[in-house]
Amino acid sequence: MTSMTEPNINALAVSSNTNNTDYIQQLTTQFNFTLSDINPDQTQLVYDGEKLAIHALNLGKPISIDFLAGKNAHRQQFGGGRGQPLARAIGLTKGKSPTIIDATAGFGRDAFVLASLGCQVTLIERHPWIAALLQDALTRAQADSDSSAHKMQLVYSNAPDYLAQLPANENPDVIYFDPMYPSREKSALVKKDMRLLHQLVGADMDSTALLNAALKTANKRVVVKRPSGVPWVGELSPHTQIESKNTRHDVYMIHDK
Ligand SMILES: C[S@@+](CC[C@H](N)C(=O)[O-])C[C@H]1O[C@@H](n2cnc3c(N)ncnc32)[C@H](O)[C@@H]1O
Repeated sequence: MTSMTEPNINALAVSSNTNNTDYIQQLTTQFNFTLSDINPDQTQLVYDGEKLAIHALNLGKPISIDFLAGKNAHRQQFGGGRGQPLARAIGLTKGKSPTIIDATAGFGRDAFVLASLGCQVTLIERHPWIAALLQDALTRAQADSDSSAHKMQLVYSNAPDYLAQLPANENPDVIYFDPMYPSREKSALVKKDMRLLHQLVGADMDSTALLNAALKTANKRVVVKRPSGVPWVGELSPHTQIESKNTRHDVYMIHDK
């Protein structure tokens, strides 16, 4: 049984006035959700007939993903293009647009930046609610024929499992990942959506397995995003590091393919 405080991450709560049954059916099939009623005393994934959002008890406004407006659109316009640290770490120089797997998609921000810069990006996310938010945001954004979301596709899976079954001719040029790291900041200073991720997902303790799987699968490089000053994943030293204010990108080049 699920307690009042522990969310049921296999349930989707639907507003009683919603009649978009085909879409609800699609979501329940894709993410194996059971349907429930809305309960304002519980943290829930809610479909209100327009979009999916997580209603978290202690975080105020519902949290959803939007690739057409807000922070994503702003970063697309003003984010620094191919000169920004993420793009440099991925290797977006000289007009190259590698194929990318983002193995820890989260809210899809980094993946959207890379898609906006012209790369084809496969997003992997294993948490059912976060994966469902991503799918819903992609569906809404892909209704706009100009959106970079057309370059993104979601896979709901644990990344090493997905990478292990990928045929060699579908291996990407680059595998990128940004695992959850235990928060070092006071919770009031951490942004609401990151607080939600910390509550739902916790720290990712299996990043070394993901790094090993990625190194076997990527054709050109593996890039790991870390907070500045923390150890390398699996204590494996990268070939290059790109440092920015609070973040470090560790770049592992693949030489023997
Ligand atoms: C820090 S967040 C990523 C944020 C993301 N870079 C962004 O720009 O929004 C990490 C996410 O990766 C997911 N994750 C961690 N390990 C994973 C794995 N092995 N397979 C799939 N998803 C994973 C977590 O559930 C979480 O949603």
